[in-house]
Amino acid sequence: METAEIDLDALRREAASCTRCELYEPATQTVFGEGPPTAWLMLVGEQPGDKEDIAGKPFVGPAGRVLDTALERAGIARAEVYLTNAVKHFRFERRGNRRLHKTPGVTHIRACRPWLDCELAAVRPDAVATLGAIAAKALLGPKFRLTSQRGQVLDWEGRRLVATVHPSAILRVPVEARDEALAALVADLQVVAALRP
Ligand code: URA
Repeated sequence: METAEIDLDALRREAASCTRCELYEPATQTVFGEGPPTAWLMLVGEQPGDKEDIAGKPFVGPAGRVLDTALERAGIARAEVYLTNAVKHFRFERRGNRRLHKTPGVTHIRACRPWLDCELAAVRPDAVATLGAIAAKALLGPKFRLTSQRGQVLDWEGRRLVATVHPSAILRVPVEARDEALAALVADLQVVAALRP
């Protein structure tokens, strides 16, 4: 199949019944990527959270709100971006009524990789930005170090790639350090914005 012919809607329908790893069982649904099918930029997060699992859409919870703010400040409209995750089912641990985020394992990332590869082949973005260490390592390998390489324009499989922190990291720093952490995320996304064709 020609890559240009890959139909994102068909992929989304197929991914809805994905059983490639066990995460599909307790999750509400597959959270596939969303955005313009010809977006110049693909943002890759880690996995859907509680709110995303319920809504069936990526980055609609608290981390999504931070991401929206950071994108806006960097001069990138969310509507111009294809947003997805390295893992498309929510991995969690039940604690009473709550479902607590659990980091996906290598097996989950590997099992989910064909979906991400299909999204990349379909959208063919000029640039990719990863959000957080899990997404960065999913694409760049386990040796990648976000702390020393964030915000750099890297060459990845013929595309330009910038790795930055996960927006939820901003919510985890002490309140007094939050503005600075957000400004650093915005600075990385400005590097991304400069890649717009
Ligand atoms: N965190 C992610 O990595 N992705 C989402 O879609 C939501 C939260």
